[in-house]
Amino acid sequence: MTAVYVLHDNPDWIPAFARAFEAEGVPLREWRLGEGVLDLDAEPPQGVFWSRLSASSHTRGAERAKDAARATLSWLESWGRRVVNGSAVASFEVSKAAQHAALRRAGFDVPRTVAVFGREGLSEAARGFDLPFITKHNQGGKGLGVRRFDDYAAFDAYVESTEFEEPADGITLLQEFLPSAEPFVTRAEFIGGRFAYAVRVDTSAGGFELCPAEACAVPEAGVEPEPLFRVRPEVTADDPLIRGYEELLAQLGIEIAGIEFLTTSTGRTVTYDINTNTNYSPDVEAAIDDPATRRVARFLGGLLAPAPAAV
Ligand SMILES: Nc1ncnc2c1ncn2[C@@H]1O[C@H](COP(=O)(O)OP(=O)(O)O)[C@@H](O)[C@H]1O
Ligand SMILES: [Mg+2]
Repeated sequence: MTAVYVLHDNPDWIPAFARAFEAEGVPLREWRLGEGVLDLDAEPPQGVFWSRLSASSHTRGAERAKDAARATLSWLESWGRRVVNGSAVASFEVSKAAQHAALRRAGFDVPRTVAVFGREGLSEAARGFDLPFITKHNQGGKGLGVRRFDDYAAFDAYVESTEFEEPADGITLLQEFLPSAEPFVTRAEFIGGRFAYAVRVDTSAGGFELCPAEACAVPEAGVEPEPLFRVRPEVTADDPLIRGYEELLAQLGIEIAGIEFLTTSTGRTVTYDINTNTNYSPDVEAAIDDPATRRVARFLGGLLAPAPAAV
């Protein structure tokens, strides 16, 4: 029997999808990236393959996932298997520089960004930025290496210190700090290349680690926290920004993604992150009629269905 194979590095992120796939009657099988054996001369199983390679896989002990994804996805593609978010998307996922380049070329407003290879050039490159500026890891996700600096001396001290966070690929990005007009950023979700919904992510606490997964929520004892993630119903598929994202995703062959943007105090709408491995917020999913997990199941299940016979 054919199935949807989900290639991933983190079993914690699968149950929400497993429930949705079951509810939609779509068979789902797990395929762990970076484990086991791959017979490169054997034919892959029949089915649809969905890559959920995550840029932060190395922080969960899955250091091999990135290279395993490259090997596995190339093999699947060589057999003509239907791969959703395939090898080209996997390399896009692990490079914010590549995301920045694609966004910029497509005409989106992006934060001014410099990639620094190794530690040596960081201090000098920082002088090219007004204060404050931020750092982030090229191979990012969940706010890796995202820090704000308000003076150059503090940055120099950080770079020299043992506190310095070494990026997985040795590339640190220096980026213009974007002052948000209001304390939130927006993440627009796309499934099958089409807009699903936009989420308002509250940033009033000031942190940069804005992972929407359930596992990332840190409830404070006895306090009912304000929901970090809420649907933004006013952002719709007709919005020119959303249409622009759909076009960009089509050009890049990205079928499932979450794109983040914010509006600055000077009225710029700036796009700074393309995630091809979304974990939908359980709060948001519970609040809407057609949860994204179910839409993903229907989209991938639809790809499994045999094409109608020619007449
Ligand atoms: N240039 C920026 N200026 C101000 N805040 C930013 C900037 N870039 C990112 N942020 C904040 O940091 C968070 C994490 O940055 P992001 O680029 O999305 O990295 P990650 O891929 O690790 O999520 C964002 O959701 C946003 O709140
Ligand atoms: Mg992000």
